[in-house]
Amino acid sequence: MVRTPTPDDKFSFGLWTVGWEARDQFGDASRPHLDPIESVRRLADLGAWGVTFHDDDLVPFGSSDADRDRIIADFRKVLDETGVVCEMVTTNTFSHPIFKDGAFTSNNREVRRYGLRKVIRNVDLAAELGAETFVMWGGREGAEYDGAKDINAALDRYREGIDTVAGYIKDQGYDLRIAIEPKPNEPRGDILLPTVGHALGFIAELEHGDIVGLNPEVGHEQMAGLNYTSGIAQALWAGKLFHIDLNGQRSIKYDQDLVFGHGDLLSAFFTVDLIENGFVGGGPRYDGPRHFDYKPSRTEDVDGVWVSAAANMSTYIVLKERAAAYRADPEVQAAFEASRVTELAVPTLGADEKLSDVLADRATFEDFDVDAVAEAGYAFVALNQLAVEHALGAR
Ligand code: GCO
Ligand code: MN
Ligand code: MN
Repeated sequence: MVRTPTPDDKFSFGLWTVGWEARDQFGDASRPHLDPIESVRRLADLGAWGVTFHDDDLVPFGSSDADRDRIIADFRKVLDETGVVCEMVTTNTFSHPIFKDGAFTSNNREVRRYGLRKVIRNVDLAAELGAETFVMWGGREGAEYDGAKDINAALDRYREGIDTVAGYIKDQGYDLRIAIEPKPNEPRGDILLPTVGHALGFIAELEHGDIVGLNPEVGHEQMAGLNYTSGIAQALWAGKLFHIDLNGQRSIKYDQDLVFGHGDLLSAFFTVDLIENGFVGGGPRYDGPRHFDYKPSRTEDVDGVWVSAAANMSTYIVLKERAAAYRADPEVQAAFEASRVTELAVPTLGADEKLSDVLADRATFEDFDVDAVAEAGYAFVALNQLAVEHALGAR
């Protein structure tokens, strides 16, 4: 039996996840509309701590101001009633055809100005609801054809857009940070800021980059054939892991948004190990929400939606227990030593050593027994097998 989630686990869900009606490129909706208020209640019953949403998930696009106010008031009421926290808000700048060529990087300047207004309005709402993170996933910021987008100008406009929003957040004194969500493709043929690495490089060029970080999603890195755990590790190292989107993906194909752990399970184990236990040699830690951005498969009925929501949390809890046992196992500790994983934390030069000292040290080069050292193995396979056996609950 897996223990029941509690708010201390800090699990949160997007309203668009459980609320997905399963309309896809090839087929109509297979499930009815879910009332967001009902979703909050059901998620609270399942033990979730937080919810997140796109503006349009809560307030349908084009609603009147009066309807918007009423919907937001009802939403606040259910948050108060259930104790569920609204930890992150994001903007839908991808569904409406006005955004077919993007929002901040649309070739059409009027669309860019309209997109900016939609985002700023949503920043105010995020701050009002006490959210700490404002995710920006630029799903339509991209192109299908290389000749269709001047990438130099597009990145200038992207920077202008994000700096304008970040500057506004600072001017208003909001306690809010922006988290960019990379994705390589889908719905555009190519999306700008396709991976964690591209986004980190972009953030370094911003004027207000101090309040801009990342929201990496498992499946998005894996769609590009990349390793999610090492991606979030680099984001952590850079002090930029502001939020995470956990889900599952099976190899390089369309964005599957499966339940967490239903894709690459061993990778999910190492992701949880990093989030819960940190780097082996110490260093920066993630203490934000454990946020699931998945889609209940189109084959599931409404009961199946709640089963799948619970499945994300169950998988996480099991992996957290397995990862704790893995780190506590003396055999694993010994394997870290044998593989010299721990030795990597020792700086290559000594505390007071200079390069000239290294150059003068014959033991590092002239007298170094290259053959003997090259012969020794690192025993990484033995270490990985311990991880596999712990992940499987065999130890
Ligand atoms: C996807 C994305 C989106 C974003 C969300 C936040 O699966 O392509 O995850 O779901 O996370 O729209 O803006
Ligand atoms: Mn996705
Ligand atoms: Mn996502």
